[in-house]
Amino acid sequence: MPDRIPLLIDTDPGVDDAWALLMAFASPAHRLLGLTVTAGNVGLDHTVRNALKLCEVAGVELPVFPGCPVPLVHPAGDAAYVHGRDGFGDTGYLPPARPAEAEHAALAMIRLSRAHPGLLLVCLGPLTNLALALRLDPGLPARIGRLVVMGGAVTGQGNTSVSAEFNIGFDPEAAHVVFEAFESFDLVDWEAVLRHGLPHDEVERWFAEGGPKAAFYAAISRRTREWSEDRRGQLWHCADGLAMLAALEPEAVTGWARRPVAVETGGRLARGATIVDWGNRSGRPARARILEGVDPARFHHWLRLALA
Ligand code: BDR
Ligand code: CA
Repeated sequence: MPDRIPLLIDTDPGVDDAWALLMAFASPAHRLLGLTVTAGNVGLDHTVRNALKLCEVAGVELPVFPGCPVPLVHPAGDAAYVHGRDGFGDTGYLPPARPAEAEHAALAMIRLSRAHPGLLLVCLGPLTNLALALRLDPGLPARIGRLVVMGGAVTGQGNTSVSAEFNIGFDPEAAHVVFEAFESFDLVDWEAVLRHGLPHDEVERWFAEGGPKAAFYAAISRRTREWSEDRRGQLWHCADGLAMLAALEPEAVTGWARRPVAVETGGRLARGATIVDWGNRSGRPARARILEGVDPARFHHWLRLALA
């Protein structure tokens, strides 16, 4: 078997983060080095605890590195109204047995990228930890083989404000730092997520077919699914799962568009918006490969594999 691809995931679990992490746990082709955790969907205490709990439920021994508790510059509101006050649907689960690491997430990113040059870095939350790591070590991008970011709304149809998607809107300054530092990165945006909705009844069937992981996931996602059905109708959206599919199986992607992307960090109406230069008018480097679509069958395959 060829060498497994070293993989590091930065995350703010988070109901959809959890499914994406289960996908990564299930990949035979990747060697997961650890989870760096940020605040985002809910506060850092909860996102770290959720990451540890998910590892425990999945029977995976991984270091979990706590990162930044707040955005780089401006305070931001969380998404507890979607994910529950604890970020995992307020099920009251027993606390995880294992503690988090003492090393900061940003330092862990730097150290692990030195130990595993060429690693695959997947960011499923606000980009605060990665931005901090870049300020500490500007040479970091040269040691990342591929960066996949879940974030943005590439034609301005946001989910946290009119024009901003949550991960970028939570910490626009961090996203700006990251987007300017990497010569190339892959962007899986909210509007792509909307094109890859999952029928609620099908998802419920998958949960019913699965084992203990599926049962845990069904429980922590119940409130989010109810909220989503109420607000968005028949289809549920697993944003971080779509990004994870593009990361784990790039062959499942049916198209990319390479364009310059900038982040609005000021603005009265559009703070946190991802401004895509669709017409290549700016002359700025086209650093982002924006995901256009994936093969739904491969997406469903991975989502089910994750629950098995
Ligand atoms: C992103 O925001 C978060 O609420 C989700 O976990 C996902 O990473 C979707 O906009
Ligand atoms: Ca997330």
